[in-house]
Amino acid sequence: MIIAIDGPAASGKGTLARRLAAHFGLRHLDTGLTYRAVAAALLVKGLPLGDEAVAVEVARNLDLAQMDKSVLSAHEIGEAASRVAVLGELRNELVKLQQKFAATPPGAVLDGRDIGTVVCPNADVKLFVTASVAARARRRTDEILSKGKEADYASVLEDLKRRDARDSGRTVAPLKQAEDAHLLDTTEMDIESAFKAAVDIVSRARLS
Ligand code: C5P
Repeated sequence: MIIAIDGPAASGKGTLARRLAAHFGLRHLDTGLTYRAVAAALLVKGLPLGDEAVAVEVARNLDLAQMDKSVLSAHEIGEAASRVAVLGELRNELVKLQQKFAATPPGAVLDGRDIGTVVCPNADVKLFVTASVAARARRRTDEILSKGKEADYASVLEDLKRRDARDSGRTVAPLKQAEDAHLLDTTEMDIESAFKAAVDIVSRARLS
């Protein structure tokens, strides 16, 4: 079984993907980490984020098991990731890697921006998880504060708006809801209710 989850930054899709994978006994891939890993490698080498040849080379040698979420979740890496994510050849390379992961038994939950539209168009279930930009900014601010770091709601909000515009406005694989995806708007939900709603959607889809 393959479950495809897409949505904007800080929509809660990552937490839902992880929990759904545990619940249904599937593997999980946060595809955002693959873009982050490539961006981080370019940053470390001091190379421009538009250097597609190097980006593709890094992607070809990427070991999914070695991606360290705690390092890659840094804010500057997220920004850089959304810049390298506009490179078409790089996307082709990462999509191949993601599809290989998805095809490995017993199946997987993948979350990202183009899973239901490009990576796994034949997924058994597709979810498009979203929330208002204000709710997402509030959650992201609280999450950063809870780690003992500084965060300012207004600048988090501006960052998210900029990232949304870049992810939805790019020509290659823009963020958009697949026609056959179930919409889950979590603006008024806490994570427990969102999880229950997601399990419901997946269970119903499996029966049909
Ligand atoms: O989800 P996350 O914030 O980790 O993703 C970082 C960036 O990687 C996103 O802003 C987006 O530009 C890019 N991305 C993508 N396609 C995916 C996953 C992430 O373009 N499937």
